[in-house]
Amino acid sequence: MFLAAAKTLSVTSTTSREILLSIRHYCKKTPTKLRVSEVVSGADLGAKTTVQGWVRSVRPQKANLFLHVNDGSSLQPLQIVASPELNNPLVTFGSAVEVTGILKKSLHQKQPVELEADQVHVIGECNPVDFPFKIKERHSLEYLRQFPHLRCRTNAFSSLLRIRSEATSAIHSYFKENGFIQIHTPIITSNDCEGAGELFQVEPSGPEYNEDEHFFSVPAFLTVSGQLHLEVMSGAFSKVYTFGPTFRAENSQSRRHLAEFYMVEAEVSFTQSLEDLTKVMEDMFRSATEHVLAHCAEDVDLFHKHVTPGHRDVVESMLKKRFPAITYSEAIDILNRSSEEFAFPTDWGCDLQTEHEKYLVKHCGNIPVFVTDYPYNLKPFYARDNQDHPEHTAAAVDLLVPGVGELCGGSLREERLDLLRARLEEAGLEDTYSWYLDLRRFGSVPHGGFGLGFERYLQCVLGVDNIKDVIPFPRFSHSCPL
Ligand code: 4AD
Repeated sequence: MFLAAAKTLSVTSTTSREILLSIRHYCKKTPTKLRVSEVVSGADLGAKTTVQGWVRSVRPQKANLFLHVNDGSSLQPLQIVASPELNNPLVTFGSAVEVTGILKKSLHQKQPVELEADQVHVIGECNPVDFPFKIKERHSLEYLRQFPHLRCRTNAFSSLLRIRSEATSAIHSYFKENGFIQIHTPIITSNDCEGAGELFQVEPSGPEYNEDEHFFSVPAFLTVSGQLHLEVMSGAFSKVYTFGPTFRAENSQSRRHLAEFYMVEAEVSFTQSLEDLTKVMEDMFRSATEHVLAHCAEDVDLFHKHVTPGHRDVVESMLKKRFPAITYSEAIDILNRSSEEFAFPTDWGCDLQTEHEKYLVKHCGNIPVFVTDYPYNLKPFYARDNQDHPEHTAAAVDLLVPGVGELCGGSLREERLDLLRARLEEAGLEDTYSWYLDLRRFGSVPHGGFGLGFERYLQCVLGVDNIKDVIPFPRFSHSCPL
C-alpha cells in the first residue's frame, strides 16, 4: 500500500521524513482495510478505515445509529457511530456489513476508539426474528450446541475457538523449543494400537466397490492413536510428537468422550524412568496454559467470569504447585479408606472410573495428580513390565486433572524383545506385529510416551463441563450433523 501511495504522490522533497508525512496524509484520505483487533488498539486515530464484519449489537437512536461490529479477530467489537440516514437498508443484529469512516477517540472508557462512519454497506442480511441468537442474551453452551453451523457467531464460542487456536500454537511451540520433531502419523492404519476394538473401519463406498475385497487388501481403520507410528520414528529421532485427529467408536454420550477428538502424543527415547515422561507432560501443560492465560486473557476471562464462574482460582492453584505422583496401589488405598460411596468397585486390579479419578484429584488438593504403575493386565501389550515390583504392574502413568479426570495416558514401552514377543504370542498377535518386534530387534532402546486429549485439556483450563462444547464440530454416536 505504501508503494502505491508513493507512486501516486509527486514527491519533490527527498527527505524521508517528508515522504513519510506525505504517505500519512495520503493514507488518511484513502481507506485502509483493517481487522477489528488492529483498529481497537487505537493506533490509527484519524485514519480513514474500512472494517468488515458481523453486527453484534444495534442501537438506533434519534441522532445516531450505534453498532458493534466484530470480525472474529478479537472479543472486543468496534463501535460504529453513523447518522440515521445510513441505516438504509436497516442494519440488523447478525448481518454482515462493510463500514468506512474515520477512527476517532471514544468518550467511553471501555473502548479507546470508535469509527465515525460515512458509509455503511450491508453485505449479507440477517432476519433477527429467525436468527437463533438474540441480541444481548447470554445463551447457555447447551443451547448453542443445537446450532453447530451458527454457534461460532456468538461471543462465547468465538472466544473458545480463538483459545483453541492459541493453545494449539502453544503446544507446537513447546515441542519445538524442547527439541521434538513433529511427525505426521497416518489417519488410516491397519493396527489397533490400544487393542480395545473401538475401531471405525475404512472402505470405499459406491457401486464400483467390491465388498469381498478390502481396498487396502487388509482391513484398515481410522487411527485410535499415532503411538505405534511414533515408536517407529523414535528409533531414529530421540524426541518426536504428533498432534492430530484420532477416532474411537465408543458408544458413549458421556461428557468427556467423543468419536473424533484431537490427541497430542509424544515419544521419548533413552528414558530412565516414568519421571522422564511426567516431566514432559507437566511442562507442556504449564507452558501451554501460561501461554493461553497471557495471550487470550479477554477470551479466557469471558469463560471464567460468565460461563464457568470461579474456575480461574482452580486454574491458578493448578499452576502454583508441582503435580504430585501416587502409585495405583496408593490410589486404591485412598479410595478404600474414603467414606464416599462409589458406584464401581475399588479392589486392587480394577480399572479406575471417572468417579474414582475425580475423588483422587480432590483428595490431592484439587490439582493435577499422576497415578503410576497400574496392574499389568489393565494395560495394552506395549506397556513395560515392572518386573522388580512385588505386585504385577506395568510402568504406565495417567495424569488426572480437576473436573475432568484422565487427561493423559502414557507408559514406558516394553523394549525387551523376549518379553514383548511372549506377550504378543499370548495374545496371538505376533504375526500382526512382526514389524513392531523388528523395532526391538534392531537398535532397541528404553523409550516411552504419552497421549493428551486436547479437548479434555480445554475443558480443564476453561472449566467446561461437556466436551462437545470445546470442539468446533463434535462427533459422537448418533450425531454427525454436517
Ligand atoms: O489413554 P489413551 O487411550 O492413550 C493412548 O491412546 C496412548 N496410545 C497414547 C500414547 O501413549 N501415545 O488416550 C490418551 C488420552 C486420554 O488420556 C484422554 O485424555 C484422551 O486421549 N481420550 C479421549 N478424549 C476424548 N474422547 C475420547 N473418546 C477419548 N479417548 C481418549
